[in-house]
Amino acid sequence: MSNKESIPKHIAIVMDGNGRWAKQRLLPRSAGHREGVKSTRRIIEAAGNAGVKILTLFAFSSENWNRPKKEVSALMNLFVSSLDQEIQKLRENGVCLKFIGDKSRFNDELQVKINEAEKITASNQDFMLNIAANYGGRWDIVNASKNLFRDVLESRLNIDDVNEKTFNKYLSTFPLEEPDLFIRTAGEQRISNFLIWQLAYTELYFTDVYWPDFDEQQLQLALDYYATRKRKFGLTQEQIDKEINA
Ligand code: IPE
Ligand code: IPE
Ligand code: MG
Repeated sequence: MSNKESIPKHIAIVMDGNGRWAKQRLLPRSAGHREGVKSTRRIIEAAGNAGVKILTLFAFSSENWNRPKKEVSALMNLFVSSLDQEIQKLRENGVCLKFIGDKSRFNDELQVKINEAEKITASNQDFMLNIAANYGGRWDIVNASKNLFRDVLESRLNIDDVNEKTFNKYLSTFPLEEPDLFIRTAGEQRISNFLIWQLAYTELYFTDVYWPDFDEQQLQLALDYYATRKRKFGLTQEQIDKEINA
């Protein structure tokens, strides 16, 4: 069904439902998170095979620190062990790994691992994998604003040159294009402070499937949905048709 043009270049995913997946099986929430990692691995590979070039995954929000201590520390341990396990394979497969979010709140061990992982995959160009960890869309905008103000104050940027394009350069996702497709699993239909600036014109796809159950077939359903969408970016359908036939 999907032709090459209708494959989204950049997909952003809110990987939700690990806790409910575990609860359904009378397992601890941490078991759901562990299962979620398997799903993440599967989807990175499947997205690459489908021709997607950029994947941005919401792994931990700035609000998730408020969860029970035990769950937060299980998640931190899972980040460390997953990085250890996956990094060589990602490197060999041409994946450039980047963490977006405020890294300064993570413990030293995790910060070191993140920096190492980013460094050893930095020259890879086949596939861009952004992990949003301690990420919040509002943080991204405030952080961008701070850095932009600093450049204006220190005369590296003229205030009259500030526009959407220049502002975008200060966001954590720069220089990547905005997501074409947003996927949220587990039934909630909200953004939960994910990429609020970058999602302005993204196609939205929601599924009830919990993240640990989200597999290649589920991804294909999302891609099929995307292929049926007509993106208009504010234009009329007639203008779009004219452009296509030009
Ligand atoms: C998503 O699953 C993973 C993280 C937020 C870290 P949840 O843990 O939010 O799962 P539910 O929403 O409780 O089912
Ligand atoms: C969003 O999920 C964050 C991640 C998936 C990492 P949440 O489960 O934290 O979002 P809410 O609380 O349902 O909005
Ligand atoms: Mg949730």
